[in-house]
Amino acid sequence: MTHPSGAATNAVEFNRDVRPILAENCFACHGPDKNQRKAKLRLDVREAAVDREAIVPGKPEQSKLVEHILSSDPDEVMPPPKTRKTLTTQQKELLKQWIAAGAEYESHWAYIKPKTIPGAAKQNSEVGRKRDRCFCFTNPAGKENPALTGGGQTDINPPAKP
Ligand code: HEC
Repeated sequence: MTHPSGAATNAVEFNRDVRPILAENCFACHGPDKNQRKAKLRLDVREAAVDREAIVPGKPEQSKLVEHILSSDPDEVMPPPKTRKTLTTQQKELLKQWIAAGAEYESHWAYIKPKTIPGAAKQNSEVGRKRDRCFCFTNPAGKENPALTGGGQTDINPPAKP
């Protein structure tokens, strides 16, 4: 993947990289469903996860999430062994990186949100202005308007009275 600025090419993206791991391995017990929720911990809402210090943004070594996914104690490790799910080393690394980088969540739809192109608004108004001008010159009604054709008196600047 290339990035216009050349920077952050390898940045972890929540929707692309992190959400699928959490959805697959964690949300069943730490997701939106209150009745299924374990340890009263939800990981799908950033504030909730941060509040419980499951995630300490910028500090993976202090985040319980990291502690639990790296644990080798079957009573501690997440996801729990009975789920028969395990995280790969790569997935664990990714979650660590994501937390180290600030653990930014993206909204579910962030990836389809149109990105603002700098200068686009300016270009549009430039086009708009040109179109207005053309309209004036080609509009027959415009010819009757001395202010637009320049052929007549306007009282924009009336001569001062003697
Ligand atoms: C099958 C249900 C289940 C799944 C799936 C699961 N957990 Fe848990 N999780 C629990 C339970 C139950 C506890 C409470 C364990 C305890 O206190 O002994 C817990 C506790 C935790 C805690 C500690 C909470 C605290 O405040 O001490 C963290 C962090 C955590 N889970 C993260 C995760 C992560 C990350 C995943 C996915 C990789 C995950 N869990 C998947 C059931 C689950």
